[in-house]
Amino acid sequence: MAKDTALELEAIEPNQHGYRTFSLGTFTFSRDEYFAYVTWPTGSHMMSVDAFLRPLQRDIAWGFFYGIVNFDAVIGTVNHYGTVDFFAGRYNEHYKRAGLDHVENFKTGVIKRVFEAMLDDWTNAAFDPFASPEETGTPFGPKNGSNKAAITRHRVSAKRMVGAPGDEPLRTDDNGFPINRHFLDVPQDEPEIIAEPGFEDEVVAFNLFTYLSRSDVTWNPSIVSACKNSLYCPTTEEYILPVIHGNDRVEWFVQLSDEIRWDVEDRETGAVRAKVTMKAGDVAAMPADIRHRGYSPKRSMLLVWENASADLPRLIASGQLPNTPVSF
Ligand code: PHB
Ligand code: FE
Repeated sequence: MAKDTALELEAIEPNQHGYRTFSLGTFTFSRDEYFAYVTWPTGSHMMSVDAFLRPLQRDIAWGFFYGIVNFDAVIGTVNHYGTVDFFAGRYNEHYKRAGLDHVENFKTGVIKRVFEAMLDDWTNAAFDPFASPEETGTPFGPKNGSNKAAITRHRVSAKRMVGAPGDEPLRTDDNGFPINRHFLDVPQDEPEIIAEPGFEDEVVAFNLFTYLSRSDVTWNPSIVSACKNSLYCPTTEEYILPVIHGNDRVEWFVQLSDEIRWDVEDRETGAVRAKVTMKAGDVAAMPADIRHRGYSPKRSMLLVWENASADLPRLIASGQLPNTPVSF
């Protein structure tokens, strides 16, 4: 049964570092100047607080994403689309074998509220969990203000396409999106549109490279076009993907600029399956039974192509669809 009582959201007085402690079912979450601590009935875990806040921010902003969001090799969430598991050791072969794994299931709204309250309380004024390390201040130290503007950013989610009438706007200097320091060489021209008379409002085009050169966040795919379940979710990447994403469907990657290296592991155990280096122009299909984490030495542009069909996890899990879209 998914837990939905108000008792799940319990926040007590700040500790000596100024931070509140949270509970979610039998899990507790606390932080001090450097670390986040998670406990559950059979164990406990600690993570550097920056490595905890970055996936926490993304899990909230992405509505728990597709499949599994591993914060690291031990803790994370599984999206059941209506309910969400929070787990410890569930996707770690050694915790599993030792019987130390622990999972609890929550209504999505309950875990979302606890996560949002924790992110708000634990994010100091100088820290932006979506920014690259070079472009943000420190997450460490005793509680020092908050950063609501950064943690409640609008998530770009085009209904049809960025730039279409009534849809997500283009990015400009004037609306707060200057060209990023790593993309100063990206041309800023827009396509010329020559529509048949009467179709002026229906023919839309924009320069995706220009748009991405003005992204103020890293590792945050946003929906720039939607055609039924086919979603183009490009993103700009720098440093390390803060989550280790466990797929429940195939994802296509198109490397639009620069280079990302991917660690690809077995989704259940974490066993290494592949190291993939993607250079500009490379295309890859990430299988439905893996988890992956990317490393981008310089800010780069990546197109993530998602199929949002709600049937896919069941069809793949039951073997009716393969884990890979192509066999060679
Ligand atoms: C992914 O897990 O596929 C993923 C997540 C965030 C990104 C890129 C890829 O920015
Ligand atoms: Fe992924």
